[in-house]
Amino acid sequence: MNTLPEPALPSSPTAPRRRVRIDEDSGTVLLRTARSAYVFRVDRAAGTVRHVHWGAPVPLADAVALPLWSENDNSFAGPWDGTEEYPVDGGARFGAPALEVRFADGSSPVEPRVQDVVLLGDDHVAVHLRDRTRPLAWQLHYRVPSDGDVVERWTEIAHTGTPEDGDVLLSRYACAHWPLPQRPDWRLSAVHGEWSAEGRLQRSGLPFGETTLGSRRGHTGHHASPWIALDPRDTGEEHGEVWVVALASSGSWRISAQRTAAGRTGVLVGEGHEGAELNLRPGGRHRTPVSPALYSSDGFGGASRSFHRHLRAHVLPHAQELRPVLYNSWEATWFEVSEENQIALARRAAAVGAELFVLDDGWFRGREDDRAGLGDWTPHPERFPRGLRPLSDEVHRLGMAFGLWVEPEMVNADSDLYRAHPDWVLHLPDRTTTELRHQMVLDFSRSEVTDWALGRLRRLVTENAVDFLKWDFNRSFTEAGRHAGGPDARRVHIEHARGLYRVLDQLRAEFPRLRIEACAGGGGRVDVGILHRTDQVWTSDNTDAVDRLRIQHGFSQLYPARVMSAWVTDSPNPLTGRVVPLRFRFHSAMAGVLGLGGDLTRWTDAELAEAAELVRTYKEIRPVIQRGEQFRLLSPEDGLLTAVQYVEDDRTVVLIWRPSTAYGPPQPPLRLRGLEPGARYRDEDTGREWSGATLMAFGLPLPELPPGDCASALVRLRRVVSAARPEPAA
Ligand code: GLA
Repeated sequence: MNTLPEPALPSSPTAPRRRVRIDEDSGTVLLRTARSAYVFRVDRAAGTVRHVHWGAPVPLADAVALPLWSENDNSFAGPWDGTEEYPVDGGARFGAPALEVRFADGSSPVEPRVQDVVLLGDDHVAVHLRDRTRPLAWQLHYRVPSDGDVVERWTEIAHTGTPEDGDVLLSRYACAHWPLPQRPDWRLSAVHGEWSAEGRLQRSGLPFGETTLGSRRGHTGHHASPWIALDPRDTGEEHGEVWVVALASSGSWRISAQRTAAGRTGVLVGEGHEGAELNLRPGGRHRTPVSPALYSSDGFGGASRSFHRHLRAHVLPHAQELRPVLYNSWEATWFEVSEENQIALARRAAAVGAELFVLDDGWFRGREDDRAGLGDWTPHPERFPRGLRPLSDEVHRLGMAFGLWVEPEMVNADSDLYRAHPDWVLHLPDRTTTELRHQMVLDFSRSEVTDWALGRLRRLVTENAVDFLKWDFNRSFTEAGRHAGGPDARRVHIEHARGLYRVLDQLRAEFPRLRIEACAGGGGRVDVGILHRTDQVWTSDNTDAVDRLRIQHGFSQLYPARVMSAWVTDSPNPLTGRVVPLRFRFHSAMAGVLGLGGDLTRWTDAELAEAAELVRTYKEIRPVIQRGEQFRLLSPEDGLLTAVQYVEDDRTVVLIWRPSTAYGPPQPPLRLRGLEPGARYRDEDTGREWSGATLMAFGLPLPELPPGDCASALVRLRRVVSAARPEPAA
């Protein structure tokens, strides 16, 4: 046993060197993140892995001595319920299990035994378990990525038997169970929504019992997002404890929080919804996706920033690369695209400063509207008689990158692809095949389908010098099974997304400079899994700059501005009819990856000039927005004002919006965050200087906003004298 005292844990987010510590005698494993600890103990006698602690740092010397939680002793209690790292269905366990199976003889109970604890590196440990008598084994994996607060967990499940044992059906196969500490009360935060109204933040008390969020749609969904946060009800935006659990997967999913009268609370997280079973043949294995989770003692804002840092450091490809200002033609020309009108838009877009031009839907054969064409990815012969290359060349000549909209996972019945391969879509022979938006889903769990998609995309990208794909997905699954049937016919709910990942991974490997925007009718497939393979996401089809503030507020809870694509479009807004000044529209979209999406050929010269000036401003503040730490100063959910602050090194940007005005007391100064108290900050537009301490304690006197509704402002501050690095006297 290691009896040396633990070195003090650093308070700054730098990585401790050994992130996994094992005490062999007690079977205790301590995972150390930059600012938290996660402790579990292998209980060989009970044949299970018991949770000990997840929260503020504790030294190993204490971790080994911490008592295991115990249940009231009565014949109705499960002695380990809520305290296991991976509860199975079997024995005296009455909570929802992480692992539930049906063996070939129809029986279910699992009887775990711990085999081994295996250190797989400084940052990775696995616990190997198996059933006492049945041919089933599973490994619990824990990894602690460097420099952050996240612990990643996943599970590998294997059928270890022979053909005589028959198959094992998995009806629950969670990535992890995340037990939480005992607190008097709990509150749950999550987002809900629908198409064009994604990311609505909801916070409510966690009821006793099981509260489940999920998707049965084959994609993550607009209606929810695969993460939840739990706090002890006294947490605020910038103070208090928060536990965040997420899932890196883009298919159907399920996250449930369980709370018992015995004071236990935990979160089960996994892919697949109730009834989406997996069949393991002898020798078969299943590896779940990763569930990243973190503890923060700095409130909801601190938890978001910590998760953003994790995504930037470990998940996003090319996270340090600044995303370009794009122009997208969808709201300008809808399906009526042509070489001529796209070139006209491209010229205007280049003139206002766009760096990437994206040709949206309508460019391919048969695509007059949304009734035909999906699947036939060759240029529309009348609209692009010379193919797409002349447009692509012109866009490049204008100094922009060329992007193209595709929806490779879908097909219209009216397409050559469907006529040739009607069996490639999700369907069942004796069920009506449901069409939504007149389209059907291609079954990406089949390799012949993904091979076809890869071949088409490869050609499109090569022939048209495509630099960027907007990858869309415009409907949910129906009739999602296999006509071959079988016990796990519904595994397509998770296997489709894995097929999609294979195509994306292969495409990126073949075209390392290609960048991809994930889209599913806006934000219908935003999750940590897709963000590992794409560069940004189309946040919502709702481009109303006021509605966006709420959508962006919800988005920012887990995902950083660096991936949040936002366009300035026309006014009145085509969806809501709201009239919004250009400056407000820009300020709203500048909070993420700025893009333009209006019909620039109808904008006046004055509007184009103002747009060009605002694009220039955005490029100047872009590193702060896209790489900085984000502080949600005022939420759009309450009050007249909404404000977000970004901090990167010596620079700070504050965006302030007042969507609608009302008579009332003057607004108080805006208390900033994340500054150096001893440093001075100069307002780059007015030249006024304030100390960091003043800006955080008293606040930034509000800049004057124009009168009326939809008023906004942008403030840029730069540190002029740093307390840490004082400037020499002149
Ligand atoms: C989806 C996308 C839109 C647009 C259309 C094209 O709805 O979210 O941005 O690309 O498809 O059909």
